[in-house]
Amino acid sequence: MVSTSRYNGLSIFIHWAVALLFLTQFVIAETGMELNVKAGELMLGFGKYDWYGVHKSIGVSIFVLVALRMIWRFTSRQPKPIPMPKWDLYLSRFNFILLYIIMVGFPLSGYIMSVAGGHGVKWFWLFDVPNLIAKNQALAGQAHFMHEEIFPIAVYVVVGLHVTGALYHFVVRKDNVLWQMLPLSFLKK
Ligand code: HEM
Ligand code: HEM
Repeated sequence: MVSTSRYNGLSIFIHWAVALLFLTQFVIAETGMELNVKAGELMLGFGKYDWYGVHKSIGVSIFVLVALRMIWRFTSRQPKPIPMPKWDLYLSRFNFILLYIIMVGFPLSGYIMSVAGGHGVKWFWLFDVPNLIAKNQALAGQAHFMHEEIFPIAVYVVVGLHVTGALYHFVVRKDNVLWQMLPLSFLKK
């Protein structure tokens, strides 16, 4: 693909939408999904299982956005690599691969644990997400383990390294790595 100096608008939009939605997923998992049903606890007027529905719907949306992003990555113009030491370039490319594995695997493990566990998935009370897997408690258990134990830690480590890298380029190397992903193109010519 022909290169350009910045990520294009759709890539930038999906990048920040996915980052924000990931954060939202962790917040909902630790608040709304922890409400006490017997005590009738509500958050913003919704009970625990409503928040489960919202969490699943956002998760499915993340999956669709990431699929779109992956297609777009190979069919649109990508920014020219910014000059940097080889270790830095390879580490950031390796980090991207791990980020993509997380962005696909995290929602997929949520979907598998729900559907294989015998629970349907609805998208914001509007329509049913197709059930592509038969009920299978062993599979549901493995997906549950991935969703609750492995992916959250992977996010802390891999996204932590990603954000540290972006800040390192911005503060220490003072190059255009962060700028090429920011939606504020008018700030810099
Ligand atoms: C990128 C998308 C997603 C992220 C970041 C995410 C994150 C999380 C987190 C952090 C938890 C709490 C884990 C814990 O208690 O330690 C959780 C729980 C849960 N997630 Fe997700 N999730 C995503 C997508 C999905 C999807 C697509 C579904 C289902 C279709 C789903 C279903 C669930 C369910 C049912 C629980 C509760 C499990 C339980 O109560 O034991 N998640 N999720
Ligand atoms: C404050 C948080 C974040 C900052 C400052 C940030 C910054 C950046 C920057 C500057 C780039 C371009 C790097 C380059 O081309 O060398 C980038 C790319 C990327 N970021 Fe982030 N990011 C953040 C959060 C996230 C999160 C939460 C995810 C995923 C869960 C993510 C996934 C990606 C991926 C996959 C790329 C590779 C380019 C692409 O294919 O879209 N980022 N990020």
